[in-house]
Amino acid sequence: MRADELRQLYLKFFKEKNHAIIPSASLIPENDPTVLFTTAGMHPLVPFLLGQPHPKGKRLANCQKCIRTTDIDEVGDTGHLTFFEMLGNWSLGDYWKEEAIKWSFEFLTSKKWLGFDPEQLSVTVFAGDDEVPCDEESARIWKELGIPEERIFYLPREDNWWGPAGTTGPCGPCTEMFIRVEGVPLCGPDCKPGCSCGAYFEIWNDVFMEYNKQSDGSYTKLKQRNVDTGMGLERTIAMLQKKSTIYDTELFQPIMEKIKELARKDELTTEQVRLQRIIADHIKSAVMIMADDHRISPSNIEQGYIVRRLLRKSIHSADVLGIQPGFLKEIAEMVIGLYKDIYDEVERNRDFVIRCIEDEEAKFRKTLGKALKRFEKILKQNGTITGKDAFLLFTSFGLPLEMTRDLAEEHGIEINMDEFRKEFEHHREISRTATHGKFKGGLADHSEEITKLHSATHLLQEALRRVLGDEVRQMGSNITRERLRFDFTFSRKLTPEEIKQVEDLVNNAIQRDLAVKQEFMPLEKALESGALAFFKETYGDTVSVYSMGDFSREVCGGPHVEHTGVLGKFKIVKQKKIGAGIIRIKAILE
Ligand code: SER
Repeated sequence: MRADELRQLYLKFFKEKNHAIIPSASLIPENDPTVLFTTAGMHPLVPFLLGQPHPKGKRLANCQKCIRTTDIDEVGDTGHLTFFEMLGNWSLGDYWKEEAIKWSFEFLTSKKWLGFDPEQLSVTVFAGDDEVPCDEESARIWKELGIPEERIFYLPREDNWWGPAGTTGPCGPCTEMFIRVEGVPLCGPDCKPGCSCGAYFEIWNDVFMEYNKQSDGSYTKLKQRNVDTGMGLERTIAMLQKKSTIYDTELFQPIMEKIKELARKDELTTEQVRLQRIIADHIKSAVMIMADDHRISPSNIEQGYIVRRLLRKSIHSADVLGIQPGFLKEIAEMVIGLYKDIYDEVERNRDFVIRCIEDEEAKFRKTLGKALKRFEKILKQNGTITGKDAFLLFTSFGLPLEMTRDLAEEHGIEINMDEFRKEFEHHREISRTATHGKFKGGLADHSEEITKLHSATHLLQEALRRVLGDEVRQMGSNITRERLRFDFTFSRKLTPEEIKQVEDLVNNAIQRDLAVKQEFMPLEKALESGALAFFKETYGDTVSVYSMGDFSREVCGGPHVEHTGVLGKFKIVKQKKIGAGIIRIKAILE
């Protein structure tokens, strides 16, 4: 079975179980400052898991693009990826454990669907702790389906608890499904699912979300009991094709081959294979982030910084493999080819991606020269390279640590990694403190401040279009409790007069105390009625439209205030040109 068939089969199966199929949301979360990327299919659904009605009903399924950076250092082994696709089905206060587990089992083992041998299947359930009891119910359901006790493993919270996606929000115990990998022996008598030896491969996770984590760390019960499942597409297809790593399927094989060809090597050592995997994973992930309609380019902040790190690490790894400069573009084209028919935005943003990739390689090669000069200078002056020096080379010149380590080794110097790590931790502490404000707010945060700023964002967008024209299109929005941030297309910064006009329009709409109304309708009808909708691929066909009096009308999931009068006074505090044709505005309500 190929990956495209698996995508289709999964959605077909859940459609037959009365699920509405929704499109993949963007990789860049809307209005959620608690995380940089969409890390799971449930992430864009947080408001609905919290109880807001979803326009498509209580049963949903999709294939979601995801980025996870938490395991980025594990990439290079057989199973970790930065970009991956997740097949998921959800119950929003509808079915519960019985149906969820039975359907997972049916889809995995029925000959009509994936046809895995049930003997290959092992599962884990939550063992329980002081706060939440052992999930006996899931274990019982698995047993009824024929999974014997010895293949049901009870694991603690660190293994069998999922969420929240950010710092607060829906979460709960989960039951995970593992395939016993053929040809990989158990590493010992205690080997079990979750063991890092690779004998068991996790492919699917059913989460039973009935808790809501609060900002003080405590858990309350959600209004409704939800199911959130996630099946790793790359992992499952590898198991179906009886491959022992995710890099051996058609989602990676051509890229892996190309890298080998560029390195002009017939055989690769274990270390070279690790680098080959890193290059494949990192370029794919960087391309998919840049190909999103938010048009993230390599930079030193937030998502752009991740793109930069991914690309630089790829360049360095390619250098080590002896690949000639200028290779990034060729691999990027292959990634685009793999995904352009599945995610329309990939083709739409092709030129942008290629331009960014070429620029970044040129830029890095320029600083690389400076970094190498600095390296030689420090070495000449001090006779050694300390952990602190390595950290400076890393932060100031973007030189990856591994590269500094290799260079030092050539001079017989071993870098004090502890010292580097200490510097790094120290720096992290500083940046954590600096970004502390970031961790308030978010989709899961329906606080009054967030809701008000969200409504103000709609008024702002309409006002910008009235003052500057239809050229204005939303590119991104991010709200914390303190301010709103709105990125939009426009060729230049606003003049002081234009800023004043925009503020006046918004404040006038606030003073008129317009009623805010939510309606559900087909996307087509919403567009006909003049509603703004800039992320069409993320909506599905029935959408929620918010209108504010006769002033603004926009497709949006909410939440919003009921009357604009409560917003207070709107003020633009900052504007910045953040890219070619993109302006960023920060504004507050006083
Ligand atoms: N949120 C869960 C996961 O990521 C299930 O979708 O595994």
